[in-house]
Amino acid sequence: MVYLLFVPIEIILRMKIYNSNSLEETQKIAEKFASSLKKGSVIALYGDLGSGKTTFVQGLAKGLGIKKRIISPTFIIVRSYKIKNRDVILASEASPESKNDPGQARMTDGSLSIFYHIDLYRLENKGQIEGLGIKELMSDSQNIIAIEWAEKIKQMLPKKRVDIYFEYLSENKRKIAITELSDAEINSA
Ligand SMILES: Nc1ncnc2c1ncn2[C@@H]1O[C@H](COP(=O)(O)OP(=O)(O)OP(=O)(O)O)[C@@H](O)[C@H]1O
Ligand SMILES: [Mg+2]
Repeated sequence: MVYLLFVPIEIILRMKIYNSNSLEETQKIAEKFASSLKKGSVIALYGDLGSGKTTFVQGLAKGLGIKKRIISPTFIIVRSYKIKNRDVILASEASPESKNDPGQARMTDGSLSIFYHIDLYRLENKGQIEGLGIKELMSDSQNIIAIEWAEKIKQMLPKKRVDIYFEYLSENKRKIAITELSDAEINSA
């Protein structure tokens, strides 16, 4: 894994590594991972074409209770979906009324929480990022955002984020490595 050359050793040691043998397995790993998410999470996905990033995002969305099919954005770089599974992350923050509103993850102000799927593969220049408001989306603590080809905006990514590296091993096998900085590392940086 060439990318690991740039990752500090203490972070490599804590990485959660999964070996997936099928598309379904990758989606299951992602669905389970979704239950560890909190609102405001930024998930950065790295890996070659076809390494499984979108497949993972599909499982993630399922874990967030999103029924709509997640597709690879072609020209649209940002897609948004209402998070429906309030059990996953938002239960503690949800307003009392939302308890009578099954299937909707409502914020204390009554607004719905949104899952943003961003694919930067076709991003051409930095100006485009501003136009899309990606920075604002990343600093919004109400939502969850997953970014494919996140290395394209490396300098803009918040320190508090989850990094997920995908590696193509063979036709149906992928390696998935999940890691994030600890609060201490974020504060000392
Ligand atoms: N174990 C696996 N995990 C994920 N995908 C797999 C696996 N085995 C085979 N595949 C296939 O690999 C492809 C992964 O495509 P996917 O769109 O998820 O990649 P991607 O990383 O998002 O690529 P891109 O950079 O083009 O967006 C799919 O066609 C999927 O069926
Ligand atoms: Mg993709």
